[in-house]
Amino acid sequence: MFACQTCGASSPKWLGRCPECGEWNSYVEELAGQRAAPSSGTALPAAIVRAEGEAAARVPTGLPGLDRVLGGGLVPGSVVLLGGEPGIGKSTFLLQAARALASASGDVLYATAEESASQVRMRGGRLRIREETLLLAAETDIGRVIAAAEVRPPALLIVDSIQAVREPALSSAAGTVTQVRECASVLQRFAKNRDVPVVLIGHVTKDGSLAGPKSLEHLVDTVLTLEGERTSLRRLLRATQNRFGPVEELALYDMTGEGLSEIPNPSAALLAERRAGLPGSAVTATREGSRCVLVEIQALVGPAAAGSPRRVAIGFDPGRLALLLAVLEATGLPLASREVFVSCAGGLSTAEPAADLAAVAALVSSARGRAIPADAACFGEIGLLGEVRRVPAAGSRLKEAASMGFRTVYLPAGDAAEAARFQDLAIRPVDRVSDFIRML
Ligand code: TYD
Ligand code: MG
Repeated sequence: MFACQTCGASSPKWLGRCPECGEWNSYVEELAGQRAAPSSGTALPAAIVRAEGEAAARVPTGLPGLDRVLGGGLVPGSVVLLGGEPGIGKSTFLLQAARALASASGDVLYATAEESASQVRMRGGRLRIREETLLLAAETDIGRVIAAAEVRPPALLIVDSIQAVREPALSSAAGTVTQVRECASVLQRFAKNRDVPVVLIGHVTKDGSLAGPKSLEHLVDTVLTLEGERTSLRRLLRATQNRFGPVEELALYDMTGEGLSEIPNPSAALLAERRAGLPGSAVTATREGSRCVLVEIQALVGPAAAGSPRRVAIGFDPGRLALLLAVLEATGLPLASREVFVSCAGGLSTAEPAADLAAVAALVSSARGRAIPADAACFGEIGLLGEVRRVPAAGSRLKEAASMGFRTVYLPAGDAAEAARFQDLAIRPVDRVSDFIRML
C-alpha cells in the first residue's frame, strides 16, 4: 500500500498528489496489515517509581568516550543511530565497540550489509580482534538479520548500514525512505521484544541531503554523530538526540593505524598547534556536555578587494560573527570595509555565545596587529547593546583554564563572583565591549 505521510490516506497505487489533503509527493510505500499490531502481553498500569531491583541496567561498551556520550552505556532495548559521512570511520569505531563489548559481556552480532564478510574480517585483523564472541553476519535481507539475531539474542546488535539492508516484500530499492523506515521499525521491534540494544549505522552527506537518516531520527532513541574533516585525522563523537542521557556530550578521537583512539585531554590537543604571541589568536572555554574544553579562536582582518568585503566563519556561527561585527562597528572599531575571517582552530566547532568575547578579542587583536597575552583566556556572551552577558558554567570554564595553565581570564562582570575560589587566576571582569577593547 501507499500512504500519505501528511494525512494518512492510503491507496494501492502511488499518487503524485494526495486526493484527500492535496499534498504533493507525500505517498510512501508501506507494508499493509502491519500497522496496528498490538505488542504482546497485557500492560497493566504500574507505579512511576521504579520497582525494586529493576534498575535501568546499562551495558557499558567498554569504550569510555562512547559510554560517556551515551550517558553511561547502552540501554537494553534501545536503538542508537550512529550517523556520519562515508569514510569518516563509523564501521571502524563500531567494530572497536563490538570488540570491547564482546570481550566483557558475551555475544555481539555485527550484521554487515554494505561490505562483504571478508572485508570486515580484514578490518578486524587491522584492529587485532581476537574475540570469538564477536559474530559476523553478511546479510542485506532485514528478515535474515533478525533471524540471525533471534537464534541467540546477542548482548548487542550492530547493523552496518541501515541504508544497505532491505525488506524484500517492498519493491523499492535499499536506501529509500520507505526501506530505511521499514527496516528501522523492524529492528526497533526486535530491540524492544528481546531487550537487546541495537546500533544502526547511517550515512549522511555534508549538506544532510540524504533523506534516510533524517527521517530516522524520531524512530530511534539516541542519535550519535561522528564528525571530522576527511583530510584530518581528528574525529568528534557527540550525541545530538538522547532519550536516556545528556546531549552535547563529546569525545575526541584520532584515527590511527589501529582504529580510533580517544584523546584523554581535549583542551591540550585542541591548543597543541597554537602559536601564542601572534595577533588574531584568542582562547576561550567552551562547554561541551559535562566538560569544558579550551579552543583557539582565530581572526584575520585585512583590506578588502573590489566589491563587498568577505565575511567567512569556519567552525563559528556566521550569524554571530555578523552580530559581533555590527557591535564592534557601533563601538567605534570600523570593520565594515574590511575582509574578516574567523575560525575555530583544531577541528572543533562552537556555536556557543560564550565564545563571543574571544572572537572579539581575536578580531581586535588582528585589526590592531597586536597579540593577546599567551596566558589569557576569555569567555562571555555579547549582546546587541555591547553589553557582556553572563554564561552558564562559569566555574567549570575557569577550572579548565586554570588547569591548562592560563593565568588571566576575562569574563562577564556578572560571573566574577564565581572566580573568588581561583586564587591563581588574575580575574578581569568585563561589563561592556568598549571597556574590553580598552583593557586589551
Ligand atoms: P570506515 O570505518 O570504513 O568508515 P565508514 O564506515 O564511516 O564509511 O573507515 C574509513 C577510513 O578509516 C579509511 O579511509 C581507512 C581508515 N582507517 C584507519 O585509518 N585506521 C584503521 O585502523 C582503520 C580500520 C581504518
Ligand atoms: Mg562503513
